[in-house]
Amino acid sequence: MKLAQGERVGHWTLQRQIGKGGNGFVWLANDPEGRMAAIKFLNSDHFGKQRETRFRDEIKFLTNETKRPGVLPLIECYVPDISTQEDGPWLATPVAKCFTELELAGVEKLTELVRHIEAVGQTLAKLHAENKWHRDLKPENLFILDGTTPVIGDFGLVDFPGKDANTRDSETLGSRNYTAPELEGDAADAPAGKADVYSLAKTFWVLASGKRYPPPGTLRMDTPELRFSKQCPHPRAGYFDRLLEDGTAYAPSDRPTMQCFAEELSAWLKPQPIGIGRTDLGALARENESIFEVENKTERDRKERIQSAEEILRSFDPVLSKIAMDLSAFVKREIHVEKGAYDLPGKFHFVELFRSVRLVSRSANQVKVTVTANHRFTVSLHSFVQVEALDNDTIRVLVGHLVQPRANGNLLIVWKPWTKEAIRPRSSAQLENESKALGIELLENLGPASREFVEKIRKLQSDPA
Ligand SMILES: Nc1ncnc2c1ncn2[C@@H]1O[C@H](COP(=O)(O)OP(=O)(O)O)[C@@H](O)[C@H]1O
Ligand SMILES: [Mg+2]
Repeated sequence: MKLAQGERVGHWTLQRQIGKGGNGFVWLANDPEGRMAAIKFLNSDHFGKQRETRFRDEIKFLTNETKRPGVLPLIECYVPDISTQEDGPWLATPVAKCFTELELAGVEKLTELVRHIEAVGQTLAKLHAENKWHRDLKPENLFILDGTTPVIGDFGLVDFPGKDANTRDSETLGSRNYTAPELEGDAADAPAGKADVYSLAKTFWVLASGKRYPPPGTLRMDTPELRFSKQCPHPRAGYFDRLLEDGTAYAPSDRPTMQCFAEELSAWLKPQPIGIGRTDLGALARENESIFEVENKTERDRKERIQSAEEILRSFDPVLSKIAMDLSAFVKREIHVEKGAYDLPGKFHFVELFRSVRLVSRSANQVKVTVTANHRFTVSLHSFVQVEALDNDTIRVLVGHLVQPRANGNLLIVWKPWTKEAIRPRSSAQLENESKALGIELLENLGPASREFVEKIRKLQSDPA
């Protein structure tokens, strides 16, 4: 069939070509009722070849996904038994705006861009749960539908259960620099969820930077030009440096799942709880890394882990200061935050309980009040924050209030502790959000803990046995 203005395709009339991809041409068309569509035609050079099988696979896939939110829906399609110059397959989708046409680069646009990528990530996570892999993510294949909804298009390389075995590939899939290394060369029939993570990470980087193409390989944080926050110096862009380094790791097993990737973006978007200040020495440290350069990667990693843990611990300073102030007023003497103070019972130590991960560092700060109940007993109230850096690259934050009675200086059992924890990858927005929430909860639980503290003193005063 001839692709030209005024030509008829089914009940559609072609108007003008609006796109060109690796497989063919996309034309804007209208029907007699004035409805518009984008019609994709396969280049006739590919008839009878593997690309035609893929095109048919795309149609087969979209036919089953028309109801799925987040996927550019199929309006209509046509598949002849045998394709000829006069009679080729086509598929029609609603006209949408391609991500390449949106102005999404720069600091001002970052929140909008994160919203779009997050939405795409959530859709992909659901597809991945059904063993459906896109394998060709890039800005050219993502769209905004109806001016608001981010959707995924171009399922020309999709792999899904029930796809024809003869379309297994022995050639490189996808587009250069967006494509995960495991899809290059002999692209295996392997679950490609992590390959989608790789490509979406590159897509995110390229859109935020405003560059034409992403750089090849892993987006390493220690190469300034590859760092997301260097391309898009938003105050909170530092979180994406690690996410994108991990997302583009060479080995699929070192990358997060699409679900985790999307969750990290949603955590970044969540409004921050108010009241607690934030210290991000991480960004400053990265800017000045040459001053603090360390010799080898293992040592650098270790230092970074400890530094991230220390940052989290410091972020609790305002909370502990507030607790110290409130307790000072309560017990009518001055109470200070004890930095690096450390006498938590062993049962609160993560690594001692689960030995599969090793401890890289552990530190704690606390506010402590001790009152003498009688000649034998003292009672202490500890309000503490403990942070552990673990060798599986996660950080554990434990906060709590403990009422600790002592007899002749020896610790008796801890009386009704209140503790809560978060375990998350370091330098993640989720960890920051959860830490802030823990800080708020710690403050909220000071009242009940103080009540316990007073009751215990009273009890020991009236019944010293
Ligand atoms: N529904 C649509 N609305 C607007 N433009 C589209 C639409 N579908 C495709 N295009 C344009 O055509 C290009 C190629 O379409 P695509 O489905 O990606 O085909 P290919 O498999 O050849 O890459 C897209 O990058 C986009 O610019
Ligand atoms: Mg395409």
